[in-house]
Amino acid sequence: MKTQKLFQILNVSMIIGFLIFLHSCKIDQSSIYSLQKYKVYDNAAVSTAHPVASAIAVKILKEGGNAIDAAIAAQFALAVCYPVAGNIGGGGFMIYREQNGRLHSLDYRETAPARSSESMYLDAAGNVIKDLSTKGHLAVGIPGSVDGMYEAFKKFSKLQDWKQLVQPAIDIAEKGFKLTKKQAKNLNDKKEVFQEVNQHQNPFNSPNRYRAGDVFIQKDLAHTLTLIRDEGRAGFYEGENAQRLAQEMQKHQGIIGTDDLKNYQSVWRDVISFPYKNYTIHSMPPPSSGGILLAQLMQSIEPYPIKSWGFQDVRSIHLMTEAEKRAYADRAIHLGDGDFYPVPVEDLINPHYVTERMRDFNISKASDLESIQAGQFDESEETTHFSIVDSYGNAVSITTTLNGGYGSKVVVEGAGYLLNNEMDDFSAKVGVPNMYGLVGAEANKIEPGKRMLSSMTPTIVEKEGKLFMVLGTPGGSTIITSVFQTILNVIEFEMPVGKAVEAPRFHHQWKPEDLFYENGAFAADKVKSLEKMGHQVSSRSSIGRVELIVAQNGKLEAAADTRGDDHVDGF
Ligand code: DON
Repeated sequence: MKTQKLFQILNVSMIIGFLIFLHSCKIDQSSIYSLQKYKVYDNAAVSTAHPVASAIAVKILKEGGNAIDAAIAAQFALAVCYPVAGNIGGGGFMIYREQNGRLHSLDYRETAPARSSESMYLDAAGNVIKDLSTKGHLAVGIPGSVDGMYEAFKKFSKLQDWKQLVQPAIDIAEKGFKLTKKQAKNLNDKKEVFQEVNQHQNPFNSPNRYRAGDVFIQKDLAHTLTLIRDEGRAGFYEGENAQRLAQEMQKHQGIIGTDDLKNYQSVWRDVISFPYKNYTIHSMPPPSSGGILLAQLMQSIEPYPIKSWGFQDVRSIHLMTEAEKRAYADRAIHLGDGDFYPVPVEDLINPHYVTERMRDFNISKASDLESIQAGQFDESEETTHFSIVDSYGNAVSITTTLNGGYGSKVVVEGAGYLLNNEMDDFSAKVGVPNMYGLVGAEANKIEPGKRMLSSMTPTIVEKEGKLFMVLGTPGGSTIITSVFQTILNVIEFEMPVGKAVEAPRFHHQWKPEDLFYENGAFAADKVKSLEKMGHQVSSRSSIGRVELIVAQNGKLEAAADTRGDDHVDGF
């Protein structure tokens, strides 16, 4: 009798155990997508923030598309399967290297609406009104992503079939895709603010709590993507969608009108290119600060024996931090949209200037912030990155964003897509920090039609004239320092490709005073040594999510950051 009871208890507990096991399988990330963080490919490689987007990009490459075709398909796919940052309601930057070595940069950054003004975020006393530039309809810049993709398509597509590139995104919006554990949590965490900003029902403010593995369907977004598929640029900037966006704005005291949309134009710009030892680095010009700051950082450290000091040796950290302080001080004063403000690009990346800036670098002591001001001249948390190399040898590096996670949180009624809160990247008032703690001035003040200053740093590195690295990352102000560190991890600290992405990071941006490091990145004795030198050292949550492809030994080594659901794919 006793044994029978024991068996019964055992059976019940086994069934419960089995059910718990099944449940844990369901919420186990790996049972939803098996994430590939590093792999070597013979022909073509892709690294994006979401496995579904990586698979779509690879599908296009296998259909004979080039890196541009795959990038367009990935941008639209990410707008569906990675809505926290992937977008059609935001903007971005692209660096493209053709197989023949020709370089191009495309600026599809958002612009300030015609009715915007320098004081639009200030109250009567001249103080910045909290949340106005980050949440809701006034935070939104004119989206550039669809125009950018259409421009890239017209100039460089190999497939020459726009519909083929947009359709995969429509399919995943229509039929849905499975949420990862991180995505479900993030959507639940933001539910209240979605409910506050949006009165109409949509998948983001739904009262249900999401769980990993739930299928996320976006019917309205599928409809908008269908307009884009069928009408190209006009499907977004004119007609039904333009009306919907303008109505959304009118209803909620926003200032974007149909003319703003009609007038939006992405721009091909000159790439910022500079040498570092036997490498040439190509990155984004203004309105991004990325290329200029990366050039300053690399040139600042070049004369020092950082390779023999080693990765995150106190001397390396100190040197890199001091270079970062100087570069970010320049950013605050001199950088903005070059179409509106005379950014002294050539002066800022002139090696003599950079050497001069580092002249007061003290190898054993942190310089105090006030002693570092911007140089003088005669004149004056979510984004996503993806890297693609195709089998023809072309490479694309794209960073695209809504700015904060899910941008302004505004979902356009009936159209299903999220709008950015990029206006916060302008300097709302001289010296008042934005959501990344960055300060700015005249160069980055709000003006109608102007692009807000960015830190996005899509980058391509050549070694002895040949394609070597394709990389970039999200992370707001930390983007530039993450790209800087990842390049050094590969070319100076000679880390394997996966490790170079995984390695812990740190960051300094002149103001605030903190030298930030990722939780657990610096051991206590390292913190002590840095403090002794005069650094104010603080730990913080993770920094960046780098997507890297390295072309070496005739192969493509692709790495996706372990900090997110990032995933490599290829063939
Ligand atoms: O353009 C910029 O610099 C910012 N809007 C980027 C935002 C970002 O990276 C947020 N990601 N975590």
